[in-house]
Amino acid sequence: MSEFTAVDVIRTKRGGGVLSDAQIDWVVDAYTKGLVADEQMSALAMAILLRGMTGPEIARWTAAMIASGERLDLSSVARPTVDKHSTGGVGDKITLALTPLVAACGAAVPQLSGRGLGHTGGTLDKLESIPGWRAALSNEEFIAQLRDVGAVICAAGEGLAPADRKLYALRDVTGTVEAIPLIASSIMSKKIAEGTGALVLDVKVGSGAFMKSVDDARELARTMVELGGAQGVKTVALLTDMSTPLGLAVGNAVEVLESVEVLAGGGPADVVELTLALAREMLDAAGLPDADPEAALRDGRAMDVWRTMIRAQAGDPDAPLPTANEVEIVCAAEDGFVAEIDAYAIGVAAWRLGAGRARKEDPVSIPAGVVLHKRPGDRVRVGEPLYELRAEQAARIPAALAEAARAVRIAPDEPAAMPLVIERIG
Ligand code: URA
Repeated sequence: MSEFTAVDVIRTKRGGGVLSDAQIDWVVDAYTKGLVADEQMSALAMAILLRGMTGPEIARWTAAMIASGERLDLSSVARPTVDKHSTGGVGDKITLALTPLVAACGAAVPQLSGRGLGHTGGTLDKLESIPGWRAALSNEEFIAQLRDVGAVICAAGEGLAPADRKLYALRDVTGTVEAIPLIASSIMSKKIAEGTGALVLDVKVGSGAFMKSVDDARELARTMVELGGAQGVKTVALLTDMSTPLGLAVGNAVEVLESVEVLAGGGPADVVELTLALAREMLDAAGLPDADPEAALRDGRAMDVWRTMIRAQAGDPDAPLPTANEVEIVCAAEDGFVAEIDAYAIGVAAWRLGAGRARKEDPVSIPAGVVLHKRPGDRVRVGEPLYELRAEQAARIPAALAEAARAVRIAPDEPAAMPLVIERIG
């Protein structure tokens, strides 16, 4: 018989108490093994959401989630390892170009990525637009590719932080995702278990992000930076704007195409700016502060690594990507400046077009999405295209049109420019 019961642990937190190390170790382990029921863990997650956790509680909770599974050993990789994690947004395709770019500059990037849910996209869904590309690798394949190519983007194996896998699914259906201690421990347990030596966090702020305010984003970032440091992973965070979609493309295949443009030395200015800012942070954290990511984009080294990385996972980097048969172009009804393009509304529009999923088991449409023709700050005249909606079925267009129409605001005066990188923490 254990000295703990789930009800006592729930009561402690419900009353605003501090959980002991032993209580945390027990409840995370017992939940992973199925000895604590889903309804009990739901009640505890809600108590944590309402009452919060102290720094030491969050650190212990994270350690217990890491201990629920395996921790990869990347010591056979000769280069310094560094990863990036984004808290998720709309049009956030940065991982696609950033991973080969940082590898081209001398680091190894072990990028375990996820799938989209709701209005935010997922890196694996985007890469699966490429014919043949395979997201699932064994641990051995993952480490071998990291050694040989220096860049891997793949799905996290079942063995990494299984407590988080179970708990995240539960939080998703019990209204308990938005708790900073639970978000921080969920993200960091997976990143630490993956074995990276250093980590750069891109914490998104704005309508298209989990964190709607800079204060919340800062608290989440500080919590994660501390958790990484305590586990020996050099961690820094950038708070970046997610009130507007990143770049012009929001969807799956369309985001791959935009990433390839960046790797070819072009692409939208904001995507290039954020890619380079994160690359510099990653290279610095990996102990390669003199590497020049701008040069690696310019001279084609990053593109070479991209092609090798895609081929290593059975993808064909030269294959044409599927295109949509239904395209609706929306034009401006007035003259002025684009004052706002709301990230959340555009994310929902792309989701309604079929680019995202409502339930984890749903398929996504490869060619569906939104392609912007204008960005905030651009001048626009009546009749000029503002954006286009792409779908596989015409029936998906009207609901997406209604969302997208709410996203775009045109005003007579030029809006003030918003900084993309808001703050650095670490
Ligand atoms: N992403 C995660 O991995 N976990 C969370 O809790 C939220 C976002």
